[in-house]
Amino acid sequence: MVARVIPVDPFDLVIFGATGDLSRRKILPGLYRRWRQGQIPDGAAIIGAARSKMDAEDFRAQVAQALDEFLAPGESDAATRDRFLAMIDYVAIDARGEGGWQALASKMRDGVVRAFYLSVAPALFGDIAQRLVEGGIADRNARIVVEKPFGKDLASARALNAALAEYFNEDQVYRIDHYLGKETVQNLMAVRFANILFEPLWNAQFVDHVQITVAETVGVGGRGEYYAHSGAMRDMVQNHMMQLLCLIAMEPPNAFEPDAMRDEKLKVIRALDPLDPRDCVRGQYRGAGGDDYLAESGNPDSRTESFIAMKLQVSNWRWKGTPFYLRTGKRLRSRVSEIAITFKEPPHSIFGESNQWRENVLVIRLQPDEGMDLRVMIKEPGPGGMRLKDVALDMSFAEALGNDLDVPDAYERLIMDVIRGNQTLFMRGDEVEAAWAWVDPVIAAWEARGDQPEPYEPGSTGPEGALMLLHRDGRRWREIR
Ligand code: BG6
Repeated sequence: MVARVIPVDPFDLVIFGATGDLSRRKILPGLYRRWRQGQIPDGAAIIGAARSKMDAEDFRAQVAQALDEFLAPGESDAATRDRFLAMIDYVAIDARGEGGWQALASKMRDGVVRAFYLSVAPALFGDIAQRLVEGGIADRNARIVVEKPFGKDLASARALNAALAEYFNEDQVYRIDHYLGKETVQNLMAVRFANILFEPLWNAQFVDHVQITVAETVGVGGRGEYYAHSGAMRDMVQNHMMQLLCLIAMEPPNAFEPDAMRDEKLKVIRALDPLDPRDCVRGQYRGAGGDDYLAESGNPDSRTESFIAMKLQVSNWRWKGTPFYLRTGKRLRSRVSEIAITFKEPPHSIFGESNQWRENVLVIRLQPDEGMDLRVMIKEPGPGGMRLKDVALDMSFAEALGNDLDVPDAYERLIMDVIRGNQTLFMRGDEVEAAWAWVDPVIAAWEARGDQPEPYEPGSTGPEGALMLLHRDGRRWREIR
């Protein structure tokens, strides 16, 4: 099924950090795909901005290389690629100095959307914002896009928000959490708010517990330096996992609109109980050879966690008493991201003791094989009386909607939303701060205690303690296959 594509308005998009990894891996290939789908009009310009001294021709050669490397085979041919490259320009710029800013100003056109993607270290956000505004490059309608990490704690996040707020209004700031751009994450909202079926059951009266799993097979790889100061809590929980939790737990907003959505998400974060240290397990992959976090990080004393599991409680009328279990980690058995809502037992079984009741579980699979799976009880076919069995009402989106369905990558959708001026899938400053306000004391407490993460085998499902976290409550994690 080919989706209907509505072109966005012509724009000038400046990518700061254009020669960096994110730009090469996600932003430029994403723009290429949207352009090839007809969503980016001919009147668009993409301007790379980075420190390296080179001309536009050199940069175009680099973009061509990135496209070859990161697009799937068959996604681009030389002639099409050259037409895309014709939209691309470059300016060598010194984020903290004077070099390049006038050249950039002279490239900006009137009458088109101006967007500035800051794919650079957060320490540069304020300097770039200042130069954009004081140099007349960004106007009142311009949009500024920032990436995580958005701070490393509440104080630094506040400082970043303040630095941006000095030059831009909140409705111009697009804080990316790429999980919000994932197709199935948006489907979560469709499932909840476009069906009457689930919402009446979506509360502590009927939901036994919720599990959110984001398991990765990759290790920290070349990002050791960043990860050493981050760990799973800052890298995954404060942003992606927290956003998923919000989308599950939030009240229905009155409209699928930026502030309506973000107001409701914020209330969820504010309703989180402080985390009891007994409800948190941190792990570190420890294996032979290079498959070992300590060896990879080059720090034999590192206390950075590459895995974390926790039990959270949302204290409000809807959720009091329903635990939310979150776990995420690197070098686990397989790559699985899913949300599982486990419902409570029916109040009374009319089928007698011999029939063992199994829980109804709604699983929303974010990746791989995006889809939904609802486990329900049915009668086992054939003679032998009323024997019950649980089966899956399983829907793979690819099968249901056609295998050739073109699902845009999260970044593609989010960049197009920036150009359209739609902030619904971006985090507001107060949301980010609230998430840090919850995370900060948890990290401070384990640092004060000098907690050492629990080792786990690479390729396993995480440390023993994570299993105990649920066993203790008479529950178990869903399998990571
Ligand atoms: C990033 C984290 O934000 O998300 C990475 O910094 C992580 O450590 C990645 O691997 C996971 O994203 P995805 O889209 O592959 O699930």
